Amino acid sequence: MLVHFVTDEPAKIPAVRAMLEPRFHVVPQLLGGNDTAIGSSSVLMVDADLRKSVCVEQIRLVLQELSFFAEKLFVVRNHVRSMVAQAYALGATAVVSRPREIIVKLEQIEVAKKASQGDGVAGASPEITDSAAVSDAEYATSQIINSIVQNGLTVWLDDVRRYHEGTFQHCLLVTGVAVSFALDTGFAGPDVARLGLAATLHDIGKARIPISILDKPGRLDPAEEEMMRRHPVIGYELLKDISGISPESLDGVRHHHEYLDGSGYPDALKAPEISDLVRLLTISDIFAALIEARPYRPPMTRQDAYKILCGMDGKLENSLVKAFRNVALRA
Ligand SMILES: [Fe+2]
Ligand SMILES: [Fe+2]
Repeated sequence: MLVHFVTDEPAKIPAVRAMLEPRFHVVPQLLGGNDTAIGSSSVLMVDADLRKSVCVEQIRLVLQELSFFAEKLFVVRNHVRSMVAQAYALGATAVVSRPREIIVKLEQIEVAKKASQGDGVAGASPEITDSAAVSDAEYATSQIINSIVQNGLTVWLDDVRRYHEGTFQHCLLVTGVAVSFALDTGFAGPDVARLGLAATLHDIGKARIPISILDKPGRLDPAEEEMMRRHPVIGYELLKDISGISPESLDGVRHHHEYLDGSGYPDALKAPEISDLVRLLTISDIFAALIEARPYRPPMTRQDAYKILCGMDGKLENSLVKAFRNVALRA
């Protein structure tokens, strides 16, 4: 579930992210800063100094624009009575204080939303298990596409680095790279969206891989490697019965580790069986993984990462790797 977080202090944004992510996806908005487009599946959370009249006025204006939010959570430390009254006067539907209270309230809202959508999934895990979660992923993808169209890939990459390390950040990074690649290649809008969704979800199967393997600061042993290699099939199995995910996106989730020469996994596909969408996704995935910091190595420069792609002759499509140069090296 997306949490639209409005605050008067930039320093509160990483703190809220550390508290809520990856369980919830935080979309920050600074009072007095630029507005952010919002999807209907979000919850509004406001943490600002309600003693300052300028803050109260800014919140009032922001809430006018965001009036469609059904749930408006205000953070008031120690439940100071005058601040609580001010929060409700501004339109709060609930006032919370301590971190645990905030999380419990958000979980309650999420369960209620799912119940009202008819699927009744209580205590949902962060894994993608229903169509409501898919709409969140689609929304996240559309936000990434909009951001790249407006600001270019570099600005988006800087933004995404402010997220947590790990699979969630990696999936968003791959989405940004893949969407940028698809736009550069001249993909039609619906194909960009299909690729974007495949990229956002491509490693979702890692939600079932033990953290000790995902975060291992060294080489995986053969048994761990075997377990890790199951993530494309796990992801495919998690998503295959969910309406709203196209066969192309599912194909991307299952086959993003396949190589043209048949040396990939899980199905050891060869070139004719690997779609264009998957070929783009695989290149984007490898590039993103190389430019990320990992527990066992620092991030690689975009130039060095691109050189590695160029050296994967026979596994990746040469013409696509050449076309990717623009995306990889452009400022
Ligand atoms: Fe993967
Ligand atoms: Fe990946």
